[in-house]
Amino acid sequence: MAIVEPSKRFQLLDKLLFDTRQYWQVVAFEHLTIPWPQLQSELLRLSDDAVSTLDSDTDALFTFFSRYIPELEQLTVLSALPQKVGRRDELPFWLSNGIKGRKLEQLQDFVAAVNETKASVLEWCAGKGHLGRLLSYHGAPEVNSIELQADLCRQGEESAKRQNLNLHFHCADVLKDDIHHHFVENRHGIALHACGELHRVFMHQAVANGMKKLSLSPCCYHLFTPPDYQAMSVEAQQSQLNLSHHDMKLALQETVTAPGRVAQVRKKEVSWRLGFDALRRELTADKYYVSVPSVNKAIFSGSFSEFCYWAAEQKQLALPDGIDFDQYERIGRERKQVTDRIELVRHVFRRAIEIWLVLDRVLYLQAAGYDVTLSTFCEKSLTPRNILIQAERQSENH
Ligand SMILES: C[S@@+](CC[C@H](N)C(=O)[O-])C[C@H]1O[C@@H](n2cnc3c(N)ncnc32)[C@H](O)[C@@H]1O
Repeated sequence: MAIVEPSKRFQLLDKLLFDTRQYWQVVAFEHLTIPWPQLQSELLRLSDDAVSTLDSDTDALFTFFSRYIPELEQLTVLSALPQKVGRRDELPFWLSNGIKGRKLEQLQDFVAAVNETKASVLEWCAGKGHLGRLLSYHGAPEVNSIELQADLCRQGEESAKRQNLNLHFHCADVLKDDIHHHFVENRHGIALHACGELHRVFMHQAVANGMKKLSLSPCCYHLFTPPDYQAMSVEAQQSQLNLSHHDMKLALQETVTAPGRVAQVRKKEVSWRLGFDALRRELTADKYYVSVPSVNKAIFSGSFSEFCYWAAEQKQLALPDGIDFDQYERIGRERKQVTDRIELVRHVFRRAIEIWLVLDRVLYLQAAGYDVTLSTFCEKSLTPRNILIQAERQSENH
């Protein structure tokens, strides 16, 4: 099946995600056992290594679960995007200096995909303005970059001046300050990896001010937004799906291969937290998972019992004498195995959730009178947040 037009595609995806929500709209930590009877034995048979291998190979993950979840075949089709391939600019050392490997390639691909050489650019939530400088070098006649952090604005402004690029920084909080005057009609609005509400404000402002062209790659859909998802398009407002922050975060859960030691500490942290949860449940007769605040990782070099005393203090819980900490540590390890396997099933749906969120944005822009294209701008290995939305306002006599 070919890629269908956005509103039909949204409708199909929306139904499919609704019908399969029992697999992804779950909080793994809350479950003591695998919550899907038909998957239980298959999941528990997997070794920890097999879980990690499947988790890092999307094709294998889909093949594995499509035997049990027939909807996955259609999900793959609905989640696919064409990749926009442009030619990376050869960059002089003075320009690329200070931008690390994968980030540089990501920026080069983004610049190539956007390929702006004529219009002035508004760079949204610019950081140090690396992207803005590359766009300027690529041929954009002027770049105006907006950024919250004064220090990044100063560094970006200095680099641009030193490199003789026509780029100007504006230090502003886009969630609080009046920034509408930056949305000049003929400027090309560009937002790379602006989180949640930051890119929503960008889109609202662009529409309200009649900006002709925008290109954005959204990320962290939940950040700075209310706990329940606020749909942008009429279609998503009518959806029966109610996405929470937890659901939105699923869209971001690509496996990032952490260095060995970091992964080991993380593993211990999760099983200790679950072990403490088992202890707390028993002492309080509480049936729900209660999170314990994040903490300096040094605590995980100590003993499980020390961690439990610390966690109990955070929860104002007095631990009685004679606790069999070894037993709870073991329960924690077992519960981590359950959690990992539940997460593995949820991960099958992560890209589909992201595509649903992105289509909401596409439909919003279409309804506001834009022609919109959806693609990826780089390989996933450079960044899993590789979706590019490009919108061009239809001319009056369209
Ligand atoms: C993930 S970084 C993206 C930076 C750059 N666009 C890139 O892709 O390399 C997000 C940037 O948004 C900025 N930011 C966060 N909140 C902001 C706000 N309320 N107003 C303006 N900028 C903000 C951050 O300081 C940070 O530099």
